[in-house]
Amino acid sequence: MARMMKIAIVDDEQDMRQSISQWLALSGFDTETYPSAEEALKAIGPDWPGVVVSDIKMPGMDGMAFLKRLMSVDSGLPVIMITGHGDVPMAVEAMRVGAYDFLEKPFNPDRMTELAKRATQARRMTLDNRALRRELADGSTLMKKLIGNSPAMERLREDILDLGQADGHVLIDGETGTGKTLVAHALHAVGPRAGKKFVVVSCAAYAEDMLGKRLFGPMDEGGQIPLVEEARGGTLVLEDVEALSHPLQSRLLTFINDQGTPAETRIIAICNDHEQGRTVEDALRPDLYYRLAALKIMLPPLRSRGEDILVLFTRLSEQFSEEYGCDAPQVTAQEAAQLLQAPWPGNVRQLINVAERAVLQNRRGTGSIASLLMSENEDAGQTMTTEGKPLKEYVESFEKMLIDNTMRRHRGSITAVMEELCLPRRTLNEKMAKYGLQRQDYL
Ligand SMILES: Nc1ncnc2c1ncn2[C@@H]1O[C@H](COP(=O)(O)OP(=O)(O)O)[C@@H](O)[C@H]1O
Ligand SMILES: [Mg+2]
Repeated sequence: MARMMKIAIVDDEQDMRQSISQWLALSGFDTETYPSAEEALKAIGPDWPGVVVSDIKMPGMDGMAFLKRLMSVDSGLPVIMITGHGDVPMAVEAMRVGAYDFLEKPFNPDRMTELAKRATQARRMTLDNRALRRELADGSTLMKKLIGNSPAMERLREDILDLGQADGHVLIDGETGTGKTLVAHALHAVGPRAGKKFVVVSCAAYAEDMLGKRLFGPMDEGGQIPLVEEARGGTLVLEDVEALSHPLQSRLLTFINDQGTPAETRIIAICNDHEQGRTVEDALRPDLYYRLAALKIMLPPLRSRGEDILVLFTRLSEQFSEEYGCDAPQVTAQEAAQLLQAPWPGNVRQLINVAERAVLQNRRGTGSIASLLMSENEDAGQTMTTEGKPLKEYVESFEKMLIDNTMRRHRGSITAVMEELCLPRRTLNEKMAKYGLQRQDYL
């Protein structure tokens, strides 16, 4: 499940560690500091949820040896190296070994923040994709991961099944955390390419010339096969497609045109950035846009599918309660209203976070969902939406959540649910039909 991304700062000089950490913490990052590479290696294993910022010159294991060790632990881990001023050969060597990027001393704090932001985004994308890849074998497992019964979610399920079978390239668009990466995996897994290669690359994670080489070749001394070759016959996912430079857009268009129809390799392009109202249509040249957007999936923001919020919260907090071996928090009517009113800029990813923290709070017996939501929204610099929703919508969402919860707890025993909620059988049946709840799903 999605977790908060961390930043590990490794430097033998305490002042340096503290100032980097403070600066990044002020910019909203979750930081950890280590006085040596050896200490950091104890904490950082494969799939570590974060990125590393490390000095190069350190006593004991130096930054370059540290980088090599990290690359052997997890070659996808973004490591930002801090080099001495003008030490170009060192920076070049670090990049060759697999550093994500480097910062020259004395560094510009804004560039540090910008790099940290890009690196954590890239890391999250890698981890999301890895977690999903483990479930790739089975399309139905991925479909079951999609929680929610709003009309938009039902349409999404149908779209995945239809487009999974279709031939054209696909463009997936939507705000962060709405499920784009999940849907890309599902599209591949439910279609005829299911057993074939599934290759993911972020167009924002590499400098232009490096991305060009990775995608189209020619092979360098490292001997890595170009990704378009590696994905042949399967699916190539281009995350952050809006970051593709114009020259690379041309090369991609040529690649697509040379493939013929139906395309041997299917491309799924994902747009992750919606800064300043810019759309993916603005970012891509029109001929490429129309090829990539032959089929299009637009994922709706969570706040627009209110009825899914409570269902998601309940399911997710149940999953976390099981993981942590404690009871799931009970949602009061007031808290339900607050969940429905929150703006959810981070969408489902943010809701997962809130559900996990609510479960942990519940285990400790402190805090409330309301306070969690307040601090969440402060972080995001947003306030609760004041835009009203009809009372009926709140009441219905809450009623549905209660029946759903109670059916689950009693494993589909209608009699037990009737008793607990003091409902006559007929009313319960009517309400279940109204909300699309089916007894067999709880047995
Ligand atoms: N409808 C959904 N039901 C359950 N989990 C979801 C749903 N949509 C997204 N998720 C989960 O939310 C997190 C963010 O989804 P992801 O696909 O990574 O979003 P995006 O790529 O749009 O940023 C992932 O952990 C994913 O499994
Ligand atoms: Mg994603």
